[in-house]
Amino acid sequence: MMKVCSDVPSLRELTAGWRQQKQRIAFVPTMGNLHDGHLSLVEIAARHADRVVVSIYVNPLQFAPGEDFDTYPRTLQDDLDRLRPLKVDAVFTPDNSIMYPQGEQQCTYIEVPGLSDILEGECRPGFFRGVATVVLKLFNMVQPDVAVFGEKDFQQLLVIRKMVRDLDLPIEIIGGPIRREADGLAMSSRNQYLGKTDRQKSPVLSETLARMRDLIINGADIEQTRAEACKQLEDNGFTVDYLTLREAETLREVKTASDCTGCEVVILAVARLSGTRLLDNLKFRLS
Ligand code: PAF
Repeated sequence: MMKVCSDVPSLRELTAGWRQQKQRIAFVPTMGNLHDGHLSLVEIAARHADRVVVSIYVNPLQFAPGEDFDTYPRTLQDDLDRLRPLKVDAVFTPDNSIMYPQGEQQCTYIEVPGLSDILEGECRPGFFRGVATVVLKLFNMVQPDVAVFGEKDFQQLLVIRKMVRDLDLPIEIIGGPIRREADGLAMSSRNQYLGKTDRQKSPVLSETLARMRDLIINGADIEQTRAEACKQLEDNGFTVDYLTLREAETLREVKTASDCTGCEVVILAVARLSGTRLLDNLKFRLS
């Protein structure tokens, strides 16, 4: 039966029992408002361990003033109903007094240098510090053997992998593929902010990424293709925060195919429709 724990001692009591029985624990951290993308991460977790813990916590430390912390959709009862039919053993639902007893501004922070300062980190200063800090705290509370993060937040996944490597955490990190709506829009809790017209336009983002990938694979000039893709998005009403081709492992910028022959690359994009930021990415290999 799925247990719901909102404090650390009751979570630890459960996980200590599992560990005593030599059971492997998988962890899926979330901010709730669960959609099929989250549920697919839970299914991956269940394939890699004997026990699955999901956390639901909207982390104030990763929201800047003026962002959507107050309005972020909180749907705990629906989330629990969605998790119950799955192989989930425990849902951890801490509040701010558990996560940051002295307030989040007084907390010891985790900084993952380099990767945290570019792209999403440049658009949202302090964001990855907030993510890395809460994820390390959650890791310490759950003590999982394996943790699953969505590849939709591609840069976040790399930041977590680096933190785990740098701090020698004995946790295997697995990336779960992006789940998309039927028209190609990458699933995200923030998609519900889109009005009807913007929702209709939104698949242009994934279409643009797919076209950009096909052109680059067929030898088109990367810079020219990128500039045309930006223009296409802007012509469709998007404001582009960034659209860039990067080496998938390091996020080093790739400007010409010869920069990166044979390597795995990723197109990373963030574009806004009426203020709603849509993140998407597409990974492929250069020949
Ligand atoms: O990806 C998210 O939902 C959040 O950034 C995470 C990893 C749960 C940390 O708050």
